[in-house]
Amino acid sequence: MSFLKSRLLISKLLKFSKPLTLTAATKKNASLIGTGALGFGCFCYFVRDGYRHRSPFVLFAQEPRTKEFDVDDFIHEKLEKLKGSIAEVVREGGEEFRAECKEDNTNDIATPGEPLEDNSLTANIEELVGQTDSDKAEFDWNQLGDILKPYWKLMTVAVGSALVVAVVNIEIPSLLGAMVDIVTRKLMCSAGPGIILGMDSREQDFEFLVRTPALKLIGLYLLQSACTFTYIYSLSIVGEGVATELRRRMFASMLNQNIVFFDTHMTGEIVSRLTSDIQEFKSSFKQCISQGLRSVSQALGCIISLYMISPEMTKTVVIIVPVIITIGSVFGRGLRALSKRAQEQVSKSSGHAEETLSNIRTVRAFAMENEELERYSGDIEKARKLNTELGAGIGVFQAGSSLFLNGVVLAVLYTGGKLISEQSITSGDLMSFLVAAQTIQRSLSNLSLLFGQYVRGIGAGGRVFQYINLPVPYDLTAGHTVMLGDRLEGVKGDIEFHSVWFRYPTRNGEYVLKRFSLQIPQGKVVAIVGPSGSGKSTLVNLLQGFYPVEKGEITVDGYRIDLMDPNWLRGEVMGLINQEPVLFSGSIMENIRYGKPEATDEEVYQAARNANAYNFIQDFPDGFQTLLGERGVTVSGGQKQRIAIARALIKNPTVLILDEATSALDTESEKIVQETLDAVSRGRTVCVIAHRLSTIQNADLIAVVADGRVAELGTHSNLKKQKGLYYNLVKQQEYKAKTPKYSSSSTKSSQCDRQRSSKRHMIYRQC
Ligand SMILES: Nc1ncnc2c1ncn2[C@@H]1O[C@H](COP(=O)(O)OP(=O)(O)OP(=O)(O)O)[C@@H](O)[C@H]1O
Ligand SMILES: [Mg+2]
Repeated sequence: MSFLKSRLLISKLLKFSKPLTLTAATKKNASLIGTGALGFGCFCYFVRDGYRHRSPFVLFAQEPRTKEFDVDDFIHEKLEKLKGSIAEVVREGGEEFRAECKEDNTNDIATPGEPLEDNSLTANIEELVGQTDSDKAEFDWNQLGDILKPYWKLMTVAVGSALVVAVVNIEIPSLLGAMVDIVTRKLMCSAGPGIILGMDSREQDFEFLVRTPALKLIGLYLLQSACTFTYIYSLSIVGEGVATELRRRMFASMLNQNIVFFDTHMTGEIVSRLTSDIQEFKSSFKQCISQGLRSVSQALGCIISLYMISPEMTKTVVIIVPVIITIGSVFGRGLRALSKRAQEQVSKSSGHAEETLSNIRTVRAFAMENEELERYSGDIEKARKLNTELGAGIGVFQAGSSLFLNGVVLAVLYTGGKLISEQSITSGDLMSFLVAAQTIQRSLSNLSLLFGQYVRGIGAGGRVFQYINLPVPYDLTAGHTVMLGDRLEGVKGDIEFHSVWFRYPTRNGEYVLKRFSLQIPQGKVVAIVGPSGSGKSTLVNLLQGFYPVEKGEITVDGYRIDLMDPNWLRGEVMGLINQEPVLFSGSIMENIRYGKPEATDEEVYQAARNANAYNFIQDFPDGFQTLLGERGVTVSGGQKQRIAIARALIKNPTVLILDEATSALDTESEKIVQETLDAVSRGRTVCVIAHRLSTIQNADLIAVVADGRVAELGTHSNLKKQKGLYYNLVKQQEYKAKTPKYSSSSTKSSQCDRQRSSKRHMIYRQC
């Protein structure tokens, strides 16, 4: 049973099962207890005198999992009553599940705890996002094994062929030695009396003598070529398969990440892990297996050959090799850390480059090309320094190891020559010895080269696995849907915020919403207005379930949205149109269909008609097949907005959320889009956020948000009469509209707002 399913189940149990008798509590409190239970296996805290106190028991369920939750005094009393009770056993999908309230033996009595505001920034983000610090990236060998499982046959073929190549390479020196011996004998024969004793005339024939080893050599060369092709080809199949699977897993993990993850990580950095890190890992994987395996077995095999020729000389070689390996591994640890830092810096610079290029219009509008170039140059300069250091490190390593290895060869030559002079070995033996010693040297230098590759590959793979293994906050298919049968009849679209407390995890200090309560009744248009930064868009983020609320709850038709299937909720129930809709590169048809992938062409046309977009789309030479540039840059702002409206409408959402949907448009386009929105709003629950108050005068209800809560609530005329915040906002805008100077500055501020979203840090300065 998945974590989310269990959570849902226990929350259902605590809400509805008899032993826990929580159905008697108010909906809010029941669901709060549900929230407590959501962290099943959780330690509960309650708050008294501004301090957190550990509750004397823990909510416990199957698969305990330690978590901590705050509950208020009231809930704490309730939990005390529940102590020892066990919810009825529920079976779901053949699995049993039960919830119980258990004594917490770790801390008997409530003891004063830390003050309430104890959440440190990093702790909270790490809890939500998981560990993403690349320094702490660990390579997940188990998962690699899991990915490799389907390829075990090919891997066996690859490893087998590489080993055959290695064995052949070991065999070749002795055959070459045999040939040299024959040539030497022949030379001796021609120089001497003409006949070698003990050999008949046939045996004296060079061609006859050379045929067998030559044929063997030809056979071995052919085998070597065939096996080389086999292992390279099969490894490339495995390597590509592993890379594809890694990409798939990482992309899936990214798509499911909490929005906080994207608040705290640059897209370019993520893309860099998805592309260059996986590429790096793939090539290291292939090289380490093919060349590594070959080099290791060749070196070992040749050491055995050497041993057979001369045990004494071989001992010298074998003693030196472990010394090199020990020094290498100590050195390698340092290189690995350096490699991680270097690759991290490369990712960072790619992130900046990506951000700049994807916002090139803003960059150009602010003439920031030089500054961006400087920033990027600074980044790549750091990367260059780190990579140069890494290069130096790898260079020292390789130079050192080749010095050692050359020393080995020299020692071998010296001893070999001595042995020949003592006539302990033949010249053929020396030839074999030299070739074998050279093969060892080549193999070991290859290994030292591979070591650098291995360091980079493990670093890159570790970073990829780190993202793949991030905890998945959302199970996109979990949760329950409240609708039965037809969607629109199933969901009424009655939305309510119940005393919601919320602050962004990346900015833990300040609450954006403080006990925020608001009802958006079914089928009504509720406008939300308020000063910039008062939290209007935050409400939209929460409605879509992008962030968990800290306290309180948000419900649709009385059901908590965090218990619903988020896919269904965002994909089918809610339609969002915001200030800067993002269209994807592709045709207009594809973009509209993005709202409902299974929609027929006719449905797309109808959505376009409803969005007042049909005519202008048809006027394009390619009609609905017109290709949009990246992020829809090839159509005007008003056209883009209407395509986005069509995309939202095609799913026929019950709830329509309009966040400054017209504020980026000029007056003419705004008028067209506003009319469109008015028309499509009929019969739906609409939550509209607007700066320009003239556009929301007809809303059924207007909520003025200030200081994290609803400061005023009523219709346009009511609110005006109150002469409060709303009245002042209206007056301000009327004044601005009348004064040309202000109206132009308001345009500027709206431009600034618009651009701020894409280039925050820069625009704050300018505005
Ligand atoms: N992703 C985020 N991470 C951290 N803080 C954020 C984030 N998004 C918004 N904020 C902050 O939350 C507060 C409310 O922002 P929000 O976007 O909801 O305001 P708004 O009322 O929609 O403003 P505007 O009218 O300018 O669109 C602001 O102080 C803002 O800086
Ligand atoms: Mg906003």
